[in-house]
Amino acid sequence: MGVEVRTEGIVKTFGSQRIWQDVSLTLPPGEVSALLGPSGTGKSVFLKSLIGLLRPERGSIHIDGTDITTCSDKELYEIRKLFGVLFQDGALFGSMHLFDNVAFPLREHTKKSESEIEKIVMEKLEMTGLLGAERKLPGEISGGMRKRAGLARALVLDPQIILVDEPDSGLDPVRTSYLSQLLIDINAQIDATILIVTHNINLARTVPDNIGMLFRRRLVMFGPREVLLTSDEPVVKQFLNGRMIGPIGMSEEKDEAQMAREQALVDAGHHHGGAEAVEGIIPQMKATPGMPVRQAVQRRKQRVREIMHTLPHAAQAAIQESLDEEGAPVA
Ligand SMILES: Nc1ncnc2c1ncn2[C@@H]1O[C@H](COP(=O)(O)OP(=O)(O)OP(=O)(O)O)[C@@H](O)[C@H]1O
Ligand SMILES: [Mg+2]
Repeated sequence: MGVEVRTEGIVKTFGSQRIWQDVSLTLPPGEVSALLGPSGTGKSVFLKSLIGLLRPERGSIHIDGTDITTCSDKELYEIRKLFGVLFQDGALFGSMHLFDNVAFPLREHTKKSESEIEKIVMEKLEMTGLLGAERKLPGEISGGMRKRAGLARALVLDPQIILVDEPDSGLDPVRTSYLSQLLIDINAQIDATILIVTHNINLARTVPDNIGMLFRRRLVMFGPREVLLTSDEPVVKQFLNGRMIGPIGMSEEKDEAQMAREQALVDAGHHHGGAEAVEGIIPQMKATPGMPVRQAVQRRKQRVREIMHTLPHAAQAAIQESLDEEGAPVA
């Protein structure tokens, strides 16, 4: 099973720039979580902090019980082996064809024979729809293929924690749906703890068990998907619906006065505002038939039942509805 990832009150600054503060969250073992937030709010910085590439100035990060902000370099090296990471830019080696790129972690971190390596690499390339492209260089394939190659490479060491930074960027809507399904299927197959950073609203609505959002240097919320998807927070509603009306502006946050002026223009029919709001919750995606059952589903049911009374009413109602739909009593 995947391991627990827990941050407690972490703060990250670069020089005089505070990126975020007081970020506390727990990624439940084996569940899929998503982190949303406008551009520049420090989502990538957060992922890099989780694997110890960046060190927060305050707070602690516990990976499977080890605090990586205080552990030794040797311990950190061991902890990093638990991770499979897809960085935002894909980070493929430009001079290596896809096969060697994907094989790289296996050659670097294991003593597997070339025939074993080939078996694993081809399996991951097939999983990500890249069979036939294994002799191509990163510069010779599309952006979407590079993303998938990065994902294939993130999977070769059978990670217990998978971090993916905008896996959907550069993918068309159909490929994004396939990718969403792939992430759920991977979770069903290896029961890893997964954190997805995404701007894709459809993916956010259908894939994760838990959703969080960074805004104004804070984690505005993190919890079961129903909490964010039924939230009345203006910033959450704006983001989920891709609207211009709300606290998020093009390059910076808006103040109250500007928000009121814009809302008045929309009400008077002079401003479009962007997409219409979608209300309610779309059912969560399930593993493809024939895949193993997602172990996380039962565990999450149990967990959510226990914290249910602490959640907002709208979230409670949505959770109850999904529990009723499933029909199966929880032991
Ligand atoms: N190594 C670094 N040194 C200094 N500043 C940095 C560094 N890495 C990131 N930043 C700054 O931290 C802020 C957050 O960056 P980050 O890349 O995490 O945003 P993001 O939420 O991932 O945005 P996007 O959605 O556009 O990918 C930015 O202002 C960025 O300039
Ligand atoms: Mg980013």
